[in-house]
Amino acid sequence: MAQLPRALTVAGSDPSGGAGVQADLKTFTALGVYGMSAITSITVQNTEGVLKTFHLPADLVHEQIRAVVEDIGVDSAKTGMLGNGDIVSAVARAVQELGIENLVVDPIVKSSSGADLLDKHGVEALKRELLPLARLVTPNVPEAEVLCGMKISKLRDVELCAREIMETGVGAVLIKGGHLEGGKVIDLLYEGGDEFHYIVRDRVRTKNTHGTGCTLSAAITAFMAKGLELKEAVERARDYIQGAIENSLNLGRGKGPLNHMWRLKECGESF
Ligand SMILES: Nc1ncnc2c1ncn2[C@@H]1O[C@H](COP(=O)(O)OP(=O)(O)OP(=O)(O)O)[C@@H](O)[C@H]1O
Ligand SMILES: [Mg+2]
Repeated sequence: MAQLPRALTVAGSDPSGGAGVQADLKTFTALGVYGMSAITSITVQNTEGVLKTFHLPADLVHEQIRAVVEDIGVDSAKTGMLGNGDIVSAVARAVQELGIENLVVDPIVKSSSGADLLDKHGVEALKRELLPLARLVTPNVPEAEVLCGMKISKLRDVELCAREIMETGVGAVLIKGGHLEGGKVIDLLYEGGDEFHYIVRDRVRTKNTHGTGCTLSAAITAFMAKGLELKEAVERARDYIQGAIENSLNLGRGKGPLNHMWRLKECGESF
């Protein structure tokens, strides 16, 4: 009988299918990993922005994680939108109790349209309780500023901020450069010590970037489930997302979604 690596996402629902749990499950599937989900929050959103959020009770989030991990097991997991401090604490407790080792935390604080997706207590709990349990945290520049408490205006600041975030006890930091200007997009991976690993790619000129952050962290999680070392998982995930953005979809009136299934082109499918 076939066995697939197993990955779990703990995140919010995006009914438009471009971000959140839906994007994560598409990414897991596209990369050949069995996907599971524990939902933290129901959002009302589309390509134009987030209209409403409704956070689920923290215990219910904890129970969802426990139910699937005890039954099916996980090779890796990621967190996305967590909403509030109670949910962050419940997730940290589940990760600890269930011994989930390969954890990627996408520290979603605000949506690209500016909606608050994690409250103040949530940020504190994330730093204190969840990051020490994670192999990797993947902030964009505004989230990195919240986590390290300093303003980032040049590349040197990104390095200082990454060092600061490592103080939380997290295993590694990936600061994403999608929101900065320039013809190149630069992400920084820092695993401690004196080495900073930059990943530089051409910026794709498109408005269709809904869900890039969710998709990247899900892809890293998928490659970790397959047993890749962190750096290789990040590089392979970066290649995957570049293709997904290059082949993004003109759906909706706002920022359209990525094409999670772009690699099927190689199999002759019409994607
Ligand atoms: N226009 C682009 N062209 C190429 N790569 C991009 C582009 N925009 C973002 N990326 C890449 O996508 C990944 C996600 O980065 P980004 O900074 O957009 O995250 P994010 O802000 O968390 O996304 P989101 O807005 O979905 O929350 C990174 O690897 C980044 O380099
Ligand atoms: Mg993001």
